[in-house]
Amino acid sequence: MNDASNLPIGRASGLQSDAELKAARLPDAQTVLSVHHWNERLFSFTTTRPLSLRFRSGEFLMIGLMDGRGKPLLRAYSIASPSWGEELEFYSIKVPDGPLTSRLQHIKVGEEIIIRPKPVGSLVIDALLPGKRLYLIATGTGVAPFASLVRDPEVYEKFDQVILTHTTRSASALHFSRHVVDSILADELMGEIAGGKLWYYPTSTREETPKMGRITNLIQSGELFADLNVPPFDPAVDRVMICGSMGLNMDMKAILEDVGMREGSNSEPGEYVLEKAFVG
Ligand SMILES: Cc1cc2nc3c(=O)[nH]c(=O)nc-3n(C[C@H](O)[C@H](O)[C@H](O)COP(=O)(O)OP(=O)(O)OC[C@H]3O[C@@H](n4cnc5c(N)ncnc54)[C@H](O)[C@@H]3O)c2cc1C
Ligand SMILES: NC(=O)c1ccc[n+]([C@@H]2O[C@H](COP(=O)([O-])OP(=O)(O)OC[C@H]3O[C@@H](n4cnc5c(N)ncnc54)[C@H](OP(=O)(O)O)[C@@H]3O)[C@@H](O)[C@H]2O)c1
Repeated sequence: MNDASNLPIGRASGLQSDAELKAARLPDAQTVLSVHHWNERLFSFTTTRPLSLRFRSGEFLMIGLMDGRGKPLLRAYSIASPSWGEELEFYSIKVPDGPLTSRLQHIKVGEEIIIRPKPVGSLVIDALLPGKRLYLIATGTGVAPFASLVRDPEVYEKFDQVILTHTTRSASALHFSRHVVDSILADELMGEIAGGKLWYYPTSTREETPKMGRITNLIQSGELFADLNVPPFDPAVDRVMICGSMGLNMDMKAILEDVGMREGSNSEPGEYVLEKAFVG
């Protein structure tokens, strides 16, 4: 018979000490290599890459921390780094009372995080039919899978033009995507591959930046196409990936289906694909 009075206090209540939690490491634990806070609501971090992990740029997997009872607390996260990278990168929201991110936002270099090496997702080149121009339409942290794709040389082999649009409420929420694009263009090898092909179209809705407005409105008014000097969506040559809130995804789906595009999947490629950036 179990006698709770013989156990340490934490055990008797089901809680474990820090030392016990550290000792109970999972085989899926990886080490945090760097952390960058972009503003009070957003941060990114890099980790070691599981040896067994193979993924396609644009996919997501489950990551997390141990909860106070020694159980994994996992959430879906897009891998923001490209498939060829030695390290993994993630771009994260800080939800003040979020079970995972209220703690994850305090993660430090050298600490461990759980990364389940089982990537999945529909934001992959394989789910699109061949085309000429690739639009990557993101709001908020939905830009994470596209940070992976725009750093993958394969994308530039398959498309003549890659247009990354990122819309956020605030100006500072655009800093991560701006940094990703700037570092591609500054890199000797990637700059050569992506230069002239990668176009960046940042917009904000609640704080002043050079381009204001929801991307859906900018598409419907024709302003996006005029600004980029490209023709309106054409199902014969244009391909679109969407990652944002449920509202953005549904509105973009309607816009694309109106011009005759069909949603693709891994088993049946189409003209566009979409994925939720978060649930709720
Ligand atoms: C396929 C997929 C991929 C995802 N990739 C990422 C990613 O790369 N980066 C990331 O930060 N999150 C991502 N998420 C969301 C992520 O899984 C968690 O919801 C998030 O980390 C918050 O976890 P939490 O436990 O703190 O709060 P939760 O209990 O999971 O969420 C609480 C509430 O916070 C809001 N919320 C959660 N995530 C976000 C977000 N990303 N942006 C805005 N509001 C949000 C929602 O209203 C939600 O109901 C993804 C979700 C899905 C389904
Ligand atoms: N970001 C913040 O500063 C902030 C602060 C406090 C709380 N929150 C909470 O955090 C959650 C997520 O916020 P978030 O800013 O990351 O994501 P979000 O609410 O999805 O907004 C991100 C961007 O997407 C735009 N957008 C939303 N719905 C759209 C649609 N149907 N079509 C086209 N564009 C659309 C927004 O424009 P609009 O501005 O026009 O909606 C905004 O520019 C929300 O529940 C919010 O209440 C956010």
